[in-house]
Amino acid sequence: MLSQVTNFDEMYAGMKEKLANVVPDAELYYKAELAVEINKLKKERNAVILGHNYMEPALFNSIPDFVGDSLELSRKAAQTDKDIIVFCGVKFMGETAKILNPTKKVLLPSNRAGCSLAESITAADVRALKEKFPGVPVVTYVNTYADVKAESDICCTSGNAKMVVESLNTDSIIFIPDEYLAGNIARETGKHIIFPKRGAPNLEFAADLDYQMIGWTGRCEVHEKFTLNDIETVRAQFPEVAILAHPECSPEVTAASDFSGSTTAMIKFVQDSKAPQYLVLTECSMGDNIAAANPEKDMLRLCMVRCPHMNTITMEDTLNALKLDRYIIDVPEDIRIRAARSVQRMIEIG
Ligand code: 13P
Ligand code: SF4
Repeated sequence: MLSQVTNFDEMYAGMKEKLANVVPDAELYYKAELAVEINKLKKERNAVILGHNYMEPALFNSIPDFVGDSLELSRKAAQTDKDIIVFCGVKFMGETAKILNPTKKVLLPSNRAGCSLAESITAADVRALKEKFPGVPVVTYVNTYADVKAESDICCTSGNAKMVVESLNTDSIIFIPDEYLAGNIARETGKHIIFPKRGAPNLEFAADLDYQMIGWTGRCEVHEKFTLNDIETVRAQFPEVAILAHPECSPEVTAASDFSGSTTAMIKFVQDSKAPQYLVLTECSMGDNIAAANPEKDMLRLCMVRCPHMNTITMEDTLNALKLDRYIIDVPEDIRIRAARSVQRMIEIG
């Protein structure tokens, strides 16, 4: 595993073997040096590095001890025996690691790695929803901050949202904050969903209160940009392309795609199928990572859509995180205890 390698020649050769078809040598040479330094320090400091599937190819393929989607990384975070967790991902992911590991130090290499979904809802918003719909359980996407998780009954990720909703077995649920993920899950489970009116000063819903799901109007600033027109244009140019969409894309886009699933589910789909070309409607670096792992597969990319938050995580900043102990993720203990219940409940479901 390259995540344990501390010798430059071995690291450079290993990275070249994995990445020769997507990263030029000049970059590999530079990043192999950084990777060796990071791995040495990681060992010295008894740290573990978790890397989300959106990390750029050189980082993704060298320093993380574990890579995966949000669900897989929450599980790894819950199991680690290391003193320090360095999360190469965004802030809500680092917080989830801290929620599950209060005695460990959690470091996020960038203090600019937010998320438009996490910013879209506050703990006060959730309390207002609960007041309006008393007794209705709250399912919260992990792409939220700890105080929002603390107001919730259970969390979910894109990898288990349907299972979590079905596990509750209730007439109605509040599902926050992603409007599109909620719409996709409503369609998959056959439930009728309502949303608060956009821009209304108070929490207003359309008069039709015949609902089974109550959503929110948060959106991922990356996935909301993919359109039906993108799909039609790509299909016109590559008629046999397999199109995969993350469930944070709009229900119209996921319905017009060939597959929709979490980042890891999309990676597996490409590995296991035999289309002449693939297009993943998600952060562009993941297309690079799939191309690197499957050199015989033809990956198309729509790289005009990038996650500005995930892209702030660099190898240079990961090295500095370990050197300078930054940026420390802290969650107030009263919030952490309540948030941990909803995260643990999700992890127990599977
Ligand atoms: P996954 O849980 O599918 O990895 O997605 C996380 C995310 O932020 C997607 O934009
Ligand atoms: Fe958040 Fe979207 Fe970026 Fe994922 S891709 S971290 S949901 S802004």
